[in-house]
Amino acid sequence: MSTQAQINALEKALEKELNMCQKFAELNDIKAQYLGKKSQLTDLMKAMKDSTPEEKRELGQYINQAKSTFNAMIEAKKTALEAASVRAKLNQETLDLSLPGPDYTLGQSHVLTQIIESIEDLFVGMGYVIKEGPELESDAYNFEKLNLPKDHPARDMQDSFYISKHTLLRTHTSPVQVRTMLEYGGKKPVKIICPGKVYRRDDDDATHSHQFMQIEGLVVDKNTTMSDLKGTLRIVAEHLFGAQREIRLRPSYFPFTEPSVEVDVTCAQCHGAGCPMCKHTGYIEILGAGMVHDAVLEASGYDPKIYQGFAFGIGVERLAMLKYGIEDIRNFYINDLRFLKQFK
Ligand code: PHE
Repeated sequence: MSTQAQINALEKALEKELNMCQKFAELNDIKAQYLGKKSQLTDLMKAMKDSTPEEKRELGQYINQAKSTFNAMIEAKKTALEAASVRAKLNQETLDLSLPGPDYTLGQSHVLTQIIESIEDLFVGMGYVIKEGPELESDAYNFEKLNLPKDHPARDMQDSFYISKHTLLRTHTSPVQVRTMLEYGGKKPVKIICPGKVYRRDDDDATHSHQFMQIEGLVVDKNTTMSDLKGTLRIVAEHLFGAQREIRLRPSYFPFTEPSVEVDVTCAQCHGAGCPMCKHTGYIEILGAGMVHDAVLEASGYDPKIYQGFAFGIGVERLAMLKYGIEDIRNFYINDLRFLKQFK
């Protein structure tokens, strides 16, 4: 049989095998069989060595031609097998596009975070800077520089968890105000709010917890008056409890402010007429405030003859309880999703 005839026969045989082949693995065997080192095509090549140069050229052409034809045939089969396997897979994995997708519930911030962020937004809009400080504080910053020297009786109201003789878990965020005044070096005006966690040795009852959150504010400048404080507090009250709120200032006492006031807002339920929520007073107490005591300004490097300031302290849990009628402060901390999900 001539070489050409042999090649033709091989091509026919290859075609037949490819038609029957169903798997990739078989395809590799076929390739080895028809194009590999031990294939008949290779044998034909080897047989050429006894031919004349002319014959060699001719035969070589046939064989090379055959090689590329066989290769192309095998590649085509490979592509066909791949397409078939994708098709089979698709048929198997039919998607029912009418089925509802998986339920990815979007979470939300904790109700206390929501209140803090909303107050931050309000104050940032009025040009305040947000300042934070450490929860582990020195006695000096937490008490002494706030006009609460050692053995001051008002310390009892806030006495806290001492870690060592001079360090404690801060009882309010006022030490951040001290830190800021010191940082500003008694020269720059101060306009800050300080949100954060505070700790007190309070009785744990429905409205008290040994750990809670505050936002305190401090403004120190050259012409700061009590009316600035009152105007600011009124904006806060309206922001939190809705427009048309009245506030009322009652004389109070804090060592770090003079004069000091307790701030009430007209009851959200009865608008001042009197109801069980406000204990028939028409007002609800929301925060403490006052004009910064000269001793506090001085202790942090501000000359009280030039600078005055006002400060206020908001209890975040207390606000949330008033705003939403929550009766037990522990609800904020026990992470019951049924409670938390109500504040979307
Ligand atoms: N630091 C006070 C407290 O925690 C709150 C307060 C701040 C009162 C500023 C007056 C002025 O009780």
